Amino acid sequence: MRTQIVAGNWKMNNDLAQTQALISDLKKQIQTSNAEVMIAPTFTNLYSAFEALRNTNIEVIAQNMHFAKNGAYTGEISACMLKSVGVETVILGHSERRAYFNETDELLAQKVEAALENNMRIIFCFGEELADRKSDNHFNIVESQIKNALFHLSSDAWSSIVLAYEPVWAIGTGETASPEQAQEMHAFIRKTIDAKYGSDVANSTSILYGGSVKPVNAKEIFSNPDVDGGLIGGAALNAEDFFAIINAFGEK
Ligand code: PGA
Repeated sequence: MRTQIVAGNWKMNNDLAQTQALISDLKKQIQTSNAEVMIAPTFTNLYSAFEALRNTNIEVIAQNMHFAKNGAYTGEISACMLKSVGVETVILGHSERRAYFNETDELLAQKVEAALENNMRIIFCFGEELADRKSDNHFNIVESQIKNALFHLSSDAWSSIVLAYEPVWAIGTGETASPEQAQEMHAFIRKTIDAKYGSDVANSTSILYGGSVKPVNAKEIFSNPDVDGGLIGGAALNAEDFFAIINAFGEK
């Protein structure tokens, strides 16, 4: 069975006090879940989050990292720095990184490589823009994003890769892909991996959906056979909403 994951991407929200308050809300509601649960606070709050959630079933993960080990890269954070504060998983390729920080497939391939060298797990994000979907180009875009950044990897490396399909038009807009659109794309992604790596890799790779997942729509989205969880933005900033989404896995 594939790992089911609900990961909260806090983006550039919550200072230290707000992070501690939200974590204490999360701790009040922690319960066993069918899904692995993760949160991604900002870099400055990773260590305190890690300490506060030690010995719980909530993993603290990072939103980004640089590909180099260390050196003259002002303002950047490396894989070994993340690992030194307890972080074992990193989100790479989020559409906001691609759009606002010019992250290309080629750069992301380097980051993927660096994360794997440091034995980190990766949540690799990709997804089409609205214009791509309107021009019926969404499958091509998604296929090339996956191929360009990940198809140089060995089959073995895929045990450290989680995919997150996030149509850009659904992120933070309140507009979500319909369950049919999500399932159709997730099945296409699995088929794309199958064609290159075979069914063992394809069937064991978790594919998350992201883009305006809320308590009201989570169950419907997660009930699709190829949707293995969610990457949650806005709704992860409220403990009650986040747990309602996690609980939507209860009946999968
Ligand atoms: P959203 O963000 O849930 O606020 O749409 C999702 C994401 O960016 O990962």
